Amino acid sequence: TGSAARAGDGVVPTVIAHRGASAYAPENTLAAIDKAAQLGFSWVENDVQRTKDGQLVVLHDDSLSRTTNVEEVFPGRAPWKVRDFTAAEIARLDAGSWFSSAYAGARVPTLKQYMRRVERNHEKLVLEIKNPELYPGIEQQTLKLLRNEGWLDGRHRNRLIVQSFSADSVRTVHKLKPAVTTAYLGTPAVTELKQFARFTDLVNPPHGSLTREYVSAVHALRGPHGRPLRVFTWTVDNAAGARRVAGYGVDGIITNKPDVVRDALASH
Ligand code: G3P
Ligand code: CA
Repeated sequence: TGSAARAGDGVVPTVIAHRGASAYAPENTLAAIDKAAQLGFSWVENDVQRTKDGQLVVLHDDSLSRTTNVEEVFPGRAPWKVRDFTAAEIARLDAGSWFSSAYAGARVPTLKQYMRRVERNHEKLVLEIKNPELYPGIEQQTLKLLRNEGWLDGRHRNRLIVQSFSADSVRTVHKLKPAVTTAYLGTPAVTELKQFARFTDLVNPPHGSLTREYVSAVHALRGPHGRPLRVFTWTVDNAAGARRVAGYGVDGIITNKPDVVRDALASH
């Protein structure tokens, strides 16, 4: 479901597969979102950056080193930053073997390829604009691609959240396309929340910084669309952690192990 549903005596948070079901398939690949769908999850999260020739691709780190074989294919190109490689060069890389030989040949997807797979899988997306300070104009470019792919139509409104660690980036997305649901990654002070509520629909703190009181303070405010501000949190991969934040009343839990979180919430 798109939002938390009532169940028993509590609220069941939405479970979001972080970088796809990234405990079970290589993060941010199409295989990772296929895996989330196979496990029965509809919400996935990703990270978007830009290549040297201006293409949007899905990758977490600002370097290609950790999650591809770039050092073998392009040995002289340290430190292997995404922004120093063309989309065609990145398309040659193996983004699966580092994780498991079962995923050899998985690719770094372009955002366009990724959106089409999300659509095919009937999934929903928390899209993170990663390192926006490295990529001037990436907000507008991302929104343009989403529009071209049909993702800014009203029927997709409950299927897309755009988030960033950069408040400026979230504010820019909200200004450019006010209808888009936005999330701010971080933990604004309670006294700052009202300012954030002008441009963000959700606050998405790391789980360690969460308290019941903080969740209540966020829920007490209304976001730019007049609805109560929501709280997601990350990255919670064990049952005890999932039960703890669910008990605080969070609306969503971002996890590498969505099945573990689902089972924990079911036996809550
Ligand atoms: O969506 C939350 C989470 O993805 C933020 O941290 O570093 O995994 O992008 P990171
Ligand atoms: Ca992320």
